[in-house]
Amino acid sequence: MFMPIITTFQLMPYLVFLLQASFLESRPSTLNDIMDALRDDNINLIGVWGMAGVGKTTLLKQVAQQAKQQWLFTKQAYMDVSWTRDSDKRQEGIAELQQEIENALELSLWEEDESKKADELKQELMKEGKILIILDDIWTEIDLEKVGIPCKGDETQCKIVLASRDGDLLCKDMGAQRCFPVEHLPPEESWSLFKKTVGDSVEENLELRPIAIQVVKECEGLPIAIVTIAKALKDETVAVWKNALEQLRSCAPTNIRAVDKKVYSCLEWSYTHLKGDDVKSLFLLCGMLGYGDISLDLLLRYGMGLDLFDRIDSLEQARNRLLALVEILKASGLLLDSHEDTHMFDEEIDSSLLFMDADNKFVRMHSVVREVARAIASKDPHPFVVREDVGLEEWSETDESKRCAFISLHCKAVHDLPQELVWPELQFFLLQNNNPLLNIPNTFFEGMKKLKVLDLSRMHFTTLPSSLDSLANLRTLRLDRCELGDIALIGKLTKLEVLSLKCSTIQQLPNEMSRLTNLRLLDLNHCQKLEVIPRNILSSLSRLECLYMKSRFTQWATEGESNACLSELNHLSHLTTLEIYIPDAKLLPKDILFEKLTRYRIFIGTRGWLRTKRALKLWKVNRSLHLGDGMSKLLERSEELGFSQLSGTKYVLHPSDRESFLELKHLEVGDSPEIQYIMDSKNQQLLQHGAFPLLKSLILQNLKNFEEVWHGPIPIGSFGNLKTLKVRFCPKLKFLLLLSTARGLSQLEEMTIEYCDAMQQIIAYERESEIKEDGHAGTNLQLFPKLRTLILHDLPQLINFSSELETTSSTSLSTNARSENSFFSHKVSFPKTEKLMLYNVPKLNLSSIYRS
Ligand SMILES: *[C@@H]1O[C@H](CO)[C@@H](O)[C@H](O)[C@H]1NC(C)=O
Ligand SMILES: *[C@@H]1O[C@H](CO)[C@@H](O)[C@H](O)[C@H]1NC(C)=O
Ligand SMILES: *[C@@H]1O[C@H](CO)[C@@H](O)[C@H](O)[C@H]1NC(C)=O
Repeated sequence: MFMPIITTFQLMPYLVFLLQASFLESRPSTLNDIMDALRDDNINLIGVWGMAGVGKTTLLKQVAQQAKQQWLFTKQAYMDVSWTRDSDKRQEGIAELQQEIENALELSLWEEDESKKADELKQELMKEGKILIILDDIWTEIDLEKVGIPCKGDETQCKIVLASRDGDLLCKDMGAQRCFPVEHLPPEESWSLFKKTVGDSVEENLELRPIAIQVVKECEGLPIAIVTIAKALKDETVAVWKNALEQLRSCAPTNIRAVDKKVYSCLEWSYTHLKGDDVKSLFLLCGMLGYGDISLDLLLRYGMGLDLFDRIDSLEQARNRLLALVEILKASGLLLDSHEDTHMFDEEIDSSLLFMDADNKFVRMHSVVREVARAIASKDPHPFVVREDVGLEEWSETDESKRCAFISLHCKAVHDLPQELVWPELQFFLLQNNNPLLNIPNTFFEGMKKLKVLDLSRMHFTTLPSSLDSLANLRTLRLDRCELGDIALIGKLTKLEVLSLKCSTIQQLPNEMSRLTNLRLLDLNHCQKLEVIPRNILSSLSRLECLYMKSRFTQWATEGESNACLSELNHLSHLTTLEIYIPDAKLLPKDILFEKLTRYRIFIGTRGWLRTKRALKLWKVNRSLHLGDGMSKLLERSEELGFSQLSGTKYVLHPSDRESFLELKHLEVGDSPEIQYIMDSKNQQLLQHGAFPLLKSLILQNLKNFEEVWHGPIPIGSFGNLKTLKVRFCPKLKFLLLLSTARGLSQLEEMTIEYCDAMQQIIAYERESEIKEDGHAGTNLQLFPKLRTLILHDLPQLINFSSELETTSSTSLSTNARSENSFFSHKVSFPKTEKLMLYNVPKLNLSSIYRS
């Protein structure tokens, strides 16, 4: 009988208090009070309130960070709920919030129905134990019960922190048990925050210092005002500083709800001060979009349509410009990094992940900044307006509407739109938060001849409104998540550059689409019903740069059929970005080129998920049968490769030159009985480099005949970046790594080895003397300095963690004879390991592993 042995050592988190030094020094007392309340068993609903821009979000982030460092909770989630401001978003908001909590806390709920989901969520949260949920920027009461968040009455260890501008809302209406006001900063702290942002030298600059002091005084202790103005003034001339001061002093009262006039004028000044129309337009555009995170990919698609990016030849250039503009806005404090990445598995955005490889695929706008942006936008010479449909008919007759260049219309209440809206200056039209049954009259678009960007996502169309064909200037059309029937009309929009039908129900692409010769981006990702793409449509889109086709389209034709065939892609000489699902490797033409692709995610025979910008996932591919030169080259340039049921070879990878696989970051191989090795090192050129210099994760599973990771002498310095190594169900594998290789794995954080029946040792060395190399004196081996998790599971033959290699093994590693009869005991130490799990390893000599 095998008893599981589970040991956990070095589990001590470093209990260091990183008191966000100097930043907002008056806050530690509030911060500490909140932390105390979090530790108090009798309190689970906490309120934090204060005016817009006073620094609530910063404080909450510090709370979250400290809670994490002190391990107060097993899981925690931060959520921005600014949408509570829109009364009409409240209903869908609840469902979204449930979804966000589910994602952030990595729960998996089954129920679809909102109230059932609430019950399920509540049960899960009670079961999970110590959980922290932070809801930031609440405008109207959220019914926690309805969402499924356990509250006061429940026996729960779940703690909720609520933040709002409105103290009464939290403390009276929502019943927070403790309420903490966040006050304005006192003068000396305002000054030090300003100095910290603008640079300490302001203190010594006799000319600037007095102006600076006045500027700070005008900001009235509001951090958002102080930080924004400081960022704008950094490295500016005295004249600019003086101008800022004058503007702040003369600021007129605003009537924007809950925004202080000082905050408004600071932000407005900062906007006026932005250099370049493109960056200003981008800022206003961001302000128009909804609450929560803003997808950079969406900004790119809108920006292309609006001609926001000057003098660009390709989407790639547009993307680079966009990222540069976003950086400017971030540096000026007008845009923020998005909250933690909770979007990872969201279908809707995974094409954006391919095109945006910046660290953040999303940005965020502070709600105060957004309000100010909207106020500024409405005064712009090309006004941007966000409207609700209420009173639309009358408003559409006003001069204001006639001048509008950008309209975002929220149609919740009505079913019918006016027959025609004469908006001659309109360039950008976004219909949001629609009633799905909203009817768009056929003549609706006739009066919008200048329209460049049209977004009608989430609507239902059996046919498209006929007046759409009058939009001769339209360049971006977004019909994501629409119920779509006949879309032949699209063929008339010959200027179209971006067409997105993502997640729509389109079944058939019309023949007329072949006229869209200006199209640069076509998004058909997740079109689950797509069945017909007539032959020669794809090949006629001669300017296409980006094609997303991770859809259910399986009818790729072989010779002579009427559907599209894959060799049509060879005609697209500008194609640089491709995401595609191909149901069977047999469909892959041998002559497929893919030479220009710089970003690709190609799924053959399987869907699943890929995370990097050059990635292949292949199922049932016969190496010697299916992969022509084009595909093989793609393979060698990839960052991520996943194989399953790979056949026709005993090596996973076949390097053709010394650059091969240098960029590989993730490799996963499974269910392939023919595979014996990862790579063959006959390729001498490769030996000079370390192999796999960037590889971060290596996952091998269910390889019946797998013998060795590397066939032959492995280059020194290989796997230097490997963080995750997982091996399961490889019954012939006797050892995992040679000591010389293991020594190079200085970044390894996680190692899991399971169900390997023949595994005798994890690390093998060929001779004793190896142990003493590199000054590793004594009998203790120091390996894997960063290893945090080690899992050894079901390894019936494992005796020693590391030991000398048996010469009888089938490997022919070295000509050096091993020294006879020299069994030393070597202990391997893991200084950083937090999680060590040994399960069903009956023969392992535990003292061969020790903790230093
Ligand atoms: C793979 O292709 C080779 C060469 O055409 C063939 O001999 C082999 O049987 C194929 N393997 C499988 C598993 O289909
Ligand atoms: C394991 O290590 C011990 C002591 O170092 C040694 O005697 C033994 O032969 C080793 N076992 C194997 C299978 O290498
Ligand atoms: C286990 O390992 C320790 C130290 O490596 C060694 O002294 C001891 O003899 C080993 N025990 C067995 C049963 O092999």
